[in-house]
Amino acid sequence: MRTDVSLSVRESSLSSRYRQVRDLSVALVRPLSDADATVQSMDDASPAKWHLAHTSWFFETFVLRDFVAGYRLHDDRFPFLFNSYYEAEGQRHARPRRGMLTRPTLDEVLAYRAAVDAALLTALPDLPASAQALVELGCHHEEQHQELLLTDILHLFAQNSLQAAIWPGDPKVPVAMPGPIQWIEGATGPVEIGATADGFAFDCEGPLHATLLHPHALADRTVTNGEWAAFIADGGYADPRHWLSDGWAWVKAEGVAAPLYWERQAGVWTRFGLDGRRPLDPAAPVTHVSFFEADAYASWAGARLPTEAEWEAAASSHDPRAGNLLDAAGPIEPRPAAGGPAFFGDVWEWTGSAYRPYPGFRAAEGAVGEYNGKFMSGQFVLRGGSCATPRGHVRASYRNFFYPHQRWQFTGVRLARDL
Ligand code: AVJ
Ligand code: FE
Repeated sequence: MRTDVSLSVRESSLSSRYRQVRDLSVALVRPLSDADATVQSMDDASPAKWHLAHTSWFFETFVLRDFVAGYRLHDDRFPFLFNSYYEAEGQRHARPRRGMLTRPTLDEVLAYRAAVDAALLTALPDLPASAQALVELGCHHEEQHQELLLTDILHLFAQNSLQAAIWPGDPKVPVAMPGPIQWIEGATGPVEIGATADGFAFDCEGPLHATLLHPHALADRTVTNGEWAAFIADGGYADPRHWLSDGWAWVKAEGVAAPLYWERQAGVWTRFGLDGRRPLDPAAPVTHVSFFEADAYASWAGARLPTEAEWEAAASSHDPRAGNLLDAAGPIEPRPAAGGPAFFGDVWEWTGSAYRPYPGFRAAEGAVGEYNGKFMSGQFVLRGGSCATPRGHVRASYRNFFYPHQRWQFTGVRLARDL
């Protein structure tokens, strides 16, 4: 009896979770025209329409096709278009050419979503536990794409001299500059890091394992725009002594001299955000910097980047739902620190740790085994979530990852130092 009741409660909470996640994606594209949702601004980014369709393909393929007897694909030409990178799922449309897909239209993609939702919500109560686990994975997958959708749209709109605002910003409240960094001494000796058994985690967050921390301290907040402007004014981008060799080559080749979306207008630094182009807020966390820039800044400041273990050990006593994270109603921009150490929201924090498997990691069987494990080469781990990360998505053990030159996500810097 009790088992039956708790099972049905679990099922209905999974269906309401599914609905909420699916609805947020549609809410995020409401300000976009079909054209806005179709164009692709660079190889790393995808059209909003593609994100909406790909997340639907994920549920249709790994749940409906694989677990629902007699399910017929909404359109049997869609898997080729909306398979992202799963070799086990066969051939696919080339990623850099996703912006060529004027068809299906945005309305047709929204109809695809509605059809998948109807079939999935009907099937959900009778799905075996293994399929329900894939629905849960699909919800977390879609949340990752919600953040990508926002950062891809930001990158697209930044290319247009109209500099349109997509979501309204905060009314300008003057804020006090945060004081100088306070150093928080970290734990020393063996600590356990990685996802524990309770709650969802991606495979790359485990296994839970012991690692050794050396005497160190972490900054109580991330680096601000004002501090970054001082790095620029001090010639930080022109002095190879601060830079890793690969970073220096990148700065020279790309002509980088400031964070992405920064522009000096009449002697004043401005930045482009989802609320349009505005004067830079010196008190807000710096964002849209690459790993190379983060590392150079730390070296200029006489510090270093935290390791992911140092970060996780410090963050695990903080609430991952508290902070400036994405909610259904914007604004979506990093905001000045409110006081007290904060680890979640605003900007993803580059760590000095390579995105590599933890001891004992094994990718899952089958196509979903390609989800994370095959990307464990040449990328760095970022921690903590950003203003574009859906609230509830991130946790202390969460490992985001990007290549060291990438900076179109909301990426920032927390300093660390050895004691
Ligand atoms: C964790 C953000 C690097 O962008 O490919 C989306 C997220 N994984 N679909 C990515 C992801 C599968 C992933 N990142
Ligand atoms: Fe994906």
